[in-house]
Amino acid sequence: MYRFPLHFLLYTCAILSLLALVEISFFYSNQKDEQQYEIHKYSMEDESAINESVDFELKKRRLPGCLIIGARKGGTRALLDALALHPMIRAARREVHFFDRNDTFSRGIAWYKDQMPLSFHHQLTIEKTPAYFPSFVTPERVFQMNSKMKIIVILREPVIRTISDYTQVYYNRLELKKSLPLFGEVVFRNGTDQIDTDYKPVRNSLYEIHLRSWLNYFPLSQIHIVDGDKFGIDPLPELRLVESFLNVPHLINSSSLVWDQRKGFFCFRKNQRQPPHCLGDSKGRTHRPVSSSTRENLRKAFLPYNERLFALIGRRFRW
Ligand SMILES: *[C@@H]1O[C@H](CO)[C@@H](O)[C@H](O)[C@H]1NC(C)=O
Ligand SMILES: *[C@@H]1O[C@H](CO)[C@@H](O)[C@H](O)[C@H]1NC(C)=O
Ligand SMILES: *[C@@H]1O[C@H](CO)[C@@H](O)[C@H](O)[C@H]1NC(C)=O
Ligand SMILES: *[C@@H]1O[C@H](CO)[C@@H](O)[C@H](O)[C@H]1NC(C)=O
Repeated sequence: MYRFPLHFLLYTCAILSLLALVEISFFYSNQKDEQQYEIHKYSMEDESAINESVDFELKKRRLPGCLIIGARKGGTRALLDALALHPMIRAARREVHFFDRNDTFSRGIAWYKDQMPLSFHHQLTIEKTPAYFPSFVTPERVFQMNSKMKIIVILREPVIRTISDYTQVYYNRLELKKSLPLFGEVVFRNGTDQIDTDYKPVRNSLYEIHLRSWLNYFPLSQIHIVDGDKFGIDPLPELRLVESFLNVPHLINSSSLVWDQRKGFFCFRKNQRQPPHCLGDSKGRTHRPVSSSTRENLRKAFLPYNERLFALIGRRFRW
């Protein structure tokens, strides 16, 4: 009896379908936006420690895996700029205000993702919006999007931070030709030594209150606190700690940091061929004058908040 060569038929079918698949995928890859494919080449000079087997890959927009949530006037911009030097980190350039504002939040996660820079899969996207830290609605919203989100908060001595915050408010109001409140009058209630905890520059310094609302959703191990006072003077040790927290190799080194004598802080340089990138003119502004007795009253008023913060995080700052 004649036996049909079944094996032969199966092989032929398999080869034909394989060819069809190759054809289809070739067709689709040609259809894709050429711009989505960027050849992933690390220059040996500045990004030598990267695994070179991840060479040709798709670059796309990804949701952040880390947020810098504050504090306002704590050095968030400088921290983000410094982290952006790292080849495994991509930073959203502007403050997106996704979680803290209902109008932006209602645009949805796809919109949020669209605000992010292009990145490779091994890169971590970071977004920073200092308004997230004191925002009551934000921790839950972040948690619902990604319960594993890494959270960074950079804190400065609260009296200095309050004066810096007030100084920014002062110049914003000056520009808008609004009335210019005196520091001592807005920070304290009616000439008492009770701080006005509703006045934003004061409220933003009550770190304990804000951190507590984040700890309702995230364990302390997922929140890294940068010492903003140390970071301003000597950024590298603090950057090392952040690199460790983010599980990325220690690649940011002193050759990337350039001291700006005029402004009194560091500028950042991605590689030796480029000029350093410095913070804008609204940063490092001379603070509005505040008398030493007002500073002292403010310092005393912050003490109980500071103490509760230290107990919460199991770490002390010299405030
Ligand atoms: C610092 O990093 C740059 C570029 O990433 C590299 O060329 C240089 O050798 C490094 N310097 C030190 C002291 O590690
Ligand atoms: C480099 O990447 C490849 C593939 O992702 C992986 O198998 C290898 O272990 C990596 N090597 C190093 C040194 O990380
Ligand atoms: C924003 O939304 C939250 C929760 O949905 C709500 O509690 C809050 O009042 C809203 N804020 C404003 C300004 O509408
Ligand atoms: C502060 O002053 C306002 C009006 O100037 C007054 O209504 C209020 O009772 C005062 N508050 C305190 C705590 O003295």
